[in-house]
Amino acid sequence: MTEEKLSTFTAPKGTYDLLPPSSATFLAIREALAAPLRRAGYGYIETPVFEDLKLFSRGVGESTDIVTKEMFSLTKRGKEDLALRPEGTASVVRATLQANLHKLGNLPVKLWYSGSFYRYERPQAGRYRQFSQVGAEAIGAEDPALDAELIILADDSFRALGLRDYTLLINSLGDKQCRPVYRAALQEFLTGLDLDEDTRRRAEINPLRVLDDKREAVQAQLTDAPRLRDFLCEDCKVYDEQVRELLTAAGVAFTDDPKLVRGLDYYTRTTFEFVHNGLGAQSAIGGGGRYDGLSEMLGGPALPSVGWGLGVDRTYLAMEAEGIVLDLPGTTAVYAVALGEQAKNVLFAKVVELRRAGVATDLAFGVKGIKNAMKSADRSGARWALVAGDRDLADGVVQLKDMTTGEQTPVALDALVTTLKEKQQ
Ligand code: HAM
Repeated sequence: MTEEKLSTFTAPKGTYDLLPPSSATFLAIREALAAPLRRAGYGYIETPVFEDLKLFSRGVGESTDIVTKEMFSLTKRGKEDLALRPEGTASVVRATLQANLHKLGNLPVKLWYSGSFYRYERPQAGRYRQFSQVGAEAIGAEDPALDAELIILADDSFRALGLRDYTLLINSLGDKQCRPVYRAALQEFLTGLDLDEDTRRRAEINPLRVLDDKREAVQAQLTDAPRLRDFLCEDCKVYDEQVRELLTAAGVAFTDDPKLVRGLDYYTRTTFEFVHNGLGAQSAIGGGGRYDGLSEMLGGPALPSVGWGLGVDRTYLAMEAEGIVLDLPGTTAVYAVALGEQAKNVLFAKVVELRRAGVATDLAFGVKGIKNAMKSADRSGARWALVAGDRDLADGVVQLKDMTTGEQTPVALDALVTTLKEKQQ
């Protein structure tokens, strides 16, 4: 029998493990990004991480990078008909239509979600193949106040986390009246440029996407490109103006970015992106916009809608870049160290009792000397250590050590839970 050498495994390329202590910050960020939504009438929705592949090709757009290059498709019984979700909007609209949420009560249907998304991108700092978003969708209403509400909520989330060094970019992509006219004008302009084969093809299928080309040689040729702003119909212009006025009134600063087209095809009218100034190339910490035609593209009725997705991984990096450290409560308040077999049993029972009373408590497991056990107590970050040997127990006490001052006092065993509960307040 040949012995196969056991190799160790590492996380797949473009993914990473979330480990303590940074995982606690990650969870707190997720929580903070969602908190303003809960206060604004958004209900929680969870959809599967895989869906019918066609949901994304139809919803996100046949010619987008996300669909053509980055989708993780799943092959089952020789058929590629499912895909890991690259984003959340198409799934949320699908679920809304499937459950008829738009017929059940008031419109808009307001939903929020939090989860992992998958894109087969070339990994780099801030760009992963599995990443985490908190998202919000308001489905079935055309109202500039709704666009403004969502943008303000995203801004509030970032601010609540302490972020300041970011810019909100905003643009209007027009609607089905004015966008086709602009599209034709842009296409004509692009035919006159010196573009490579791939870009030329993109100009034919989706000319707006060319505006988003990051290469300098392409950007240099786009300075005189026609601007969508100049083609907006009256309705779109008024709508856009109203969103901006509401943002200004709420004290949310923004910058016009006529080239902001975003990487998904469903957008109409308001589009926006929050860009952090300390992140390098992958600087978008969140983005979204209005998608008035998506429901119809998925076979549903007309449901004008707006939403956003905020990147949890990049928000984490942005906070790091700004040197923001969240003041998170310690995970362990009390750490118990037993000296001897009998003491261990008594302390274990006390630990169970303390936890049931709501005091976060840990215990030195395994056979450890007092020195090592106290080191563990120190590392746990606990404010209090409980130390008990057989002699203490014979006296009916445990030693309570204040880990910040080093002061140690005996506490009666039966008064332990109340004493620690009081100290915790
Ligand atoms: P998105 O702009 O593709 O929009 O993604 C939203 C955010 O997710 C980005 O701003 C970024 O922070 C994060 N993100 C995207 N790709 C990656 C990646 N590969 N690695 C790390 N973070 C990433 C959407 O997904 C739309 N569904 C947003 C939306 C909702 N629009 C309307 N409703």
